[in-house]
Amino acid sequence: MSVLSEPLFHNIPLCAIKPGMQLDFNLYLERENKFHLIVEKGDIYPEKLTDNIKNTNDLSEYFYIHLTEKPSYDNHIESYLKKISSDDTIPLNEKSLLVYKSTSDAINDLLKNPESKKSLERTKTLVDHTINIILNYDTSIKSMMSIGSHDYYTYTHSVDVSVFVIGFANYLGFSFENLRNIGYAAMMHDIGKNKIPHEIINKNGKLTDEEFSLMKSHPCHSYDVLKFHDEINEDILMGVRSHHEKARGNGYPDGLKLHEINDFAKIISLCDIFSALTTKRSYKNAFSSFKSLQMMKQEMINDFDEKLFYDFIRFIGKSCTHN
Ligand SMILES: [Fe+2]
Repeated sequence: MSVLSEPLFHNIPLCAIKPGMQLDFNLYLERENKFHLIVEKGDIYPEKLTDNIKNTNDLSEYFYIHLTEKPSYDNHIESYLKKISSDDTIPLNEKSLLVYKSTSDAINDLLKNPESKKSLERTKTLVDHTINIILNYDTSIKSMMSIGSHDYYTYTHSVDVSVFVIGFANYLGFSFENLRNIGYAAMMHDIGKNKIPHEIINKNGKLTDEEFSLMKSHPCHSYDVLKFHDEINEDILMGVRSHHEKARGNGYPDGLKLHEINDFAKIISLCDIFSALTTKRSYKNAFSSFKSLQMMKQEMINDFDEKLFYDFIRFIGKSCTHN
C-alpha cells in the first residue's frame, strides 16, 4: 500500500525576500525535485542573488522553506507587508502577489485548522492589506486576478471572491469598517468545505442526491466555525451562512426569499458565481468575464437582486477593462 505524505517544503514568491534581509529560516531552491539550501538561517540575503536566479535558473518562480519554519516565515512576511503597504517604490504586481499568496496560505491553514485564533487573526490583517491595495490602485483588481490560480482550490477561490467582493463593495460606497467585515465574510464563506470530502468538491460530473445534500451543508459548517469565535458580528455570520440563498427562495440552507437575504450574502453570492464561472475546473474550462456575465443574465437573473446584478455588471466593466 502506498501512503501519500504531506509535502515537507512550502513555496514562497521570490519577491518576498530582498537583498540585505536577515533570514530567520533556511532558504531553499528546487531543482529536479530536490531542495538545495541557498541561504542559511541567520545569514543576510546577498545582493544580486535573485537576479542570478532569474537569469540562470530554469524559470524558478519560488523559493522554498521547510514547513517546520513556516511560523518564522509568516512573521517575516507579516512585518514586510506592513512595511511596504505605503511604499510606492514597490510595484503593484509585487504587492498583489505577496498579499494574494499570503492570504491563500492563511486560508489554507484555516481550512486545516478552522479553530485557530492565530490563523483567523492573520486572515483579518490580510483583509486589511487587500483593502489597502484595492483603495489605492485603480488597476488592483485586474492585477490580483492575473495572479489568481487558473485551477480551482477552495483557498484560492476564497481569495478571488474576496477581491471581487471588496472591490464591488467599495464601488457601492461601503465604509471602511464594512469593507473589512464583508471582506472577512468573503474570505471565510467556504471554510466549512473542510468538512466535505475532497472527491465531492472536485468531482468530475454530476453529484448524486446524497453528495449534493452533503455539499449543501457547507454554509452551515462555515457559520458554525465563525460562531465559535465571539468577535464575529451578525452581518458576517449571515453573509457566510446565506451565500447560496436565491431570490425566489429555492436556495440553501434556509430557503430565504430576496427580502430576507442579508446584503453581504447577496454580494458574496454574485462574486462567488462570477468567480466560479471564470475559473477552470476539472469538468469545465474558464469562461471569459463577458460570457460569464451573459450566462448569469440569461440563466440566473431570477436568483439575484436584479438591481444589484446590474451594478455588478457595471463594476466588472469598470474594473476588468481598465488599462
Ligand atoms: Fe459556497
